[in-house]
Amino acid sequence: MNAKRHQDKVALVTGGAQGIGAGIVKVLVERGARVAIVDKDAETAAAYAATFSNSDQHVISIQADISTVEGCRSAVNDVIASFGALDVLINNAAPGRNKAQIGRLHGPDWPAHAEVVLQATAWLAEAALPHLRKASMPAIVNISSVTATAVAPEQCSWPYHVSKAGLEQMTRYLACQFGAEGIRVNAVAPGLVDRDGGMKISDNPENRKIIEAIVPLKRAASAAEIGTIVSFLCSEDASYLTGQVLIADGGMGVRENFGASLRARQAD
Ligand SMILES: NC(=O)c1ccc[n+]([C@@H]2O[C@H](COP(=O)([O-])OP(=O)(O)OC[C@H]3O[C@@H](n4cnc5c(N)ncnc54)[C@H](O)[C@@H]3O)[C@@H](O)[C@H]2O)c1
Repeated sequence: MNAKRHQDKVALVTGGAQGIGAGIVKVLVERGARVAIVDKDAETAAAYAATFSNSDQHVISIQADISTVEGCRSAVNDVIASFGALDVLINNAAPGRNKAQIGRLHGPDWPAHAEVVLQATAWLAEAALPHLRKASMPAIVNISSVTATAVAPEQCSWPYHVSKAGLEQMTRYLACQFGAEGIRVNAVAPGLVDRDGGMKISDNPENRKIIEAIVPLKRAASAAEIGTIVSFLCSEDASYLTGQVLIADGGMGVRENFGASLRARQAD
């Protein structure tokens, strides 16, 4: 049943050119959706879209910078021009992790996070609304992070944390605003994820040791595993779920980690 669970649906995935977004695109396409990758990195997005060459797979790339309202509106217009409909909106893009910002209280990256994570979610929802209203099972899924609720000061800047916390409240806000129209709005909060392509968090043996110690499932997620959770949230199986955040962290958040971290260090 999973095979064609999204047959005839049209999905817009922001930041779908690479990483977790690419995993989401792959799963939705495999399950029958037509997918528009909306990304500011036109080259990477086009190259990834071109990998779906099968005649019954429809993936297009749309270059847009969603940090402006114009960028959001033009992205939605382009999706409608190509596919004529929009059933599912996935807000996945976020500014890259700027290591220079980690630990600094004064820095310039709050505007970027506010625009791409928060404002774009509202602007895209607004632009998508007339089309979602016509869909049979409309859904919005926001990609949050475990850092929305737990603090990782060595890993990410405060704007990253705070924007993700805001995105979870935006999820609940939009769920209430759109509920009467049958549009469900949910979020996924991943923990540690091995992005598709390039260097993965689990490639480093020291990271692997820590992951085995603190993650009950003993491994990072794959991007496609986050994609399957997004797929579920967009599907009829989740028809009574809205305003929720599904935490996809392999159990990391429910484990007390001090002893496990000590053991990992002692094993060195
Ligand atoms: N990687 C992880 O371990 C992890 C863990 C938890 C949550 N997340 C979240 O998952 C999402 C994807 O993370 P990732 O690591 O795959 O990211 P990534 O940096 O690999 O990809 C992000 C994509 O978004 C695009 N993008 C950024 N700003 C944009 C803009 N203004 N307009 C259009 N496109 C834009 C980029 O070009 C890029 O293709 C993010 O929201 C991130 O916060 C990631």
